[in-house]
Amino acid sequence: MMFPEYRPRRLRSNENLRALIRETRLSPDQLVAPLFIMPGKKKREEISSMPGVFRLSVDQLAKEVKELKSVGVNSVILFGLPEKKDAMGTGAHAKDGIIQRGIRELKNKVPDFTVITDVCLCEYTDHGHCGCLVGETVDNDATLEILAKTALSHAAAGADMVAPSDMMDGRVAEIRAALDENNFDMIPIMSYAVKYASAFYGPFRDAADCAPQFGDRRSYQMDPANSREALREATLDVDEGADILMVKPAVAYLDIIRQLNDEFDLPIAAYHVSGEYAMIKAAAANGWIDEKRVMAETLLSIKRAGADIILTYYAKDMARLLQG
Ligand code: PBG
Repeated sequence: MMFPEYRPRRLRSNENLRALIRETRLSPDQLVAPLFIMPGKKKREEISSMPGVFRLSVDQLAKEVKELKSVGVNSVILFGLPEKKDAMGTGAHAKDGIIQRGIRELKNKVPDFTVITDVCLCEYTDHGHCGCLVGETVDNDATLEILAKTALSHAAAGADMVAPSDMMDGRVAEIRAALDENNFDMIPIMSYAVKYASAFYGPFRDAADCAPQFGDRRSYQMDPANSREALREATLDVDEGADILMVKPAVAYLDIIRQLNDEFDLPIAAYHVSGEYAMIKAAAANGWIDEKRVMAETLLSIKRAGADIILTYYAKDMARLLQG
C-alpha cells in the first residue's frame, strides 16, 4: 500500500472537483434583508455604524426591494422608527404606524415578495425597553397583549410573516391565538426563540434608536453562557406554535444553531446581527481583511452550523456575489 493511503488533496485539485463535493451552499432565496423605515419623504440616510445600510422613508422602499428581488433575495424584515414614542409603545400597533404604512406600500408596489415584520416594542417605547413597565421591571403579561395587537396590525396591513423579538414568556402562544381568531391562521410566526442579551446589537440600537434609557435587557434576553436553556426556550416556542426558530446573534452562537438543528425539525433561522456586520466593515475599511471573502465565509459558516435562513445586512452584497 502506498503512503499515505488516502489523499484528501485528490478532491481539492481544481475548482470543478471542489464544487462537485461541496457540502454547503448559500442561496439568495434563503437570505432575508433587514430594512429600517423612517418618517418623511425621499429620505435615505446611511447609518454611521453600519456602512452600506440606510434608513429609508416609505416612498423609497419599493426601489430597494426591487433591487433585492433582481438579485434573487425574496424577503425582507422590517424595523420602524416611529414619529412619536410613549410608555406603552402604542406606535407599534397604530393603524397608520410607520411599519403598517411600509407594509402597505410594499404589498402595493412589489407583488410576489415576502414581507416579514419584527414584533417588539423597544422602537416604540420612550424608555426603550421591549415591553411596558411596572416600576423599572418589564411587565411580562401586560406586554403580551400589546405584542399580540402589534402582530395583528401587521397582518391586517398585509405582512406575510411576523417575527416576535421581545423575549416575553408566552408571546408566541398569545400571538398565534390572536392571529387565528382573526382569520390570519395562515400567517407563520418566525420566533426569535433563542435571543441572547448581546453587546453585538450596539449598532442596531443606534440605527433604530432603541437603546434602553435605564438598565439593560438581561431580565428578558438570555445569558450568553447558557446553551441548555436555549433548548428549553426553543421547546416552549415549538409547543406554543412557532413555525420557524431563530437564533440571534449568529456567529458568536454557531454551537447553538447546530444544537437547534439537531434537536428540532422546524426550519432554523439565524440573525447575523449589526455588530457582527459592523466588525467586518470596520476591518475591511482599514484594509485588514478581504471584505467579500470574509462576508462569504461568515455566512457560509452560519449555514454550515445548521441555519436554513440567514437574516443579514449583507443580503444584497452576498446575493450579487453569488450571481458572479
Ligand atoms: C428588537 C431587536 C433588536 C435587534 C433585532 N430586533 C435589538 C435588541 O434586542 O436590542 C438587533 C438586531 C441587530 O443587532 O442587528 N428587540
